[in-house]
Amino acid sequence: MHTPSAPMAGYTKSEIYQYLIRDARAILDEEPNRVARMATVVSLCAQAFPDWFWTGFYCVDEVKKTQGVDELVVGPYTGTLGCLRIAFGRGVCGTAAATKTTQIVPDVHAFPGHIACDSRSNSEIVVPVFDGSGELIAVFDVDSEQYDSFDETDRDGLESLIEVVFAS
Ligand code: SME
Repeated sequence: MHTPSAPMAGYTKSEIYQYLIRDARAILDEEPNRVARMATVVSLCAQAFPDWFWTGFYCVDEVKKTQGVDELVVGPYTGTLGCLRIAFGRGVCGTAAATKTTQIVPDVHAFPGHIACDSRSNSEIVVPVFDGSGELIAVFDVDSEQYDSFDETDRDGLESLIEVVFAS
């Protein structure tokens, strides 16, 4: 296992995701608590990608769900203060939750309804999080200060990481 705080310079993005998946598997083996799993993913990712500006989860609000309301509430994250709640269908996170598909946004200012928690965010990727029975439980949101930071390698890497940690 690489030291989570060790710099990952010199590795390709795809290699970094492979290390992350391996580390997450090893660290979270036999840890069922969902908050612990989310917090660990946030820490591993933020350490591995120091240029990520905001990294965290928005969770499906289970109480609101029983009332027929589809809403996300902020979960474990690192970065500047995130907004607390996002309705399904609103912004990039709400779109990922409503469509259950990964959203890659090269320029958040061009995304209709984007929620600007911090004006320094310029590009974003949001990956839906499913549990072992295929139920949507959260979305994983990463923001960057750079434009066009995320590509298909990030989609593949993050979808694999999220699947390994939350669905298997
Ligand atoms: N920009 C997001 C909101 C969450 S923050 O970036 C932390 C969106 O439009 O969903």
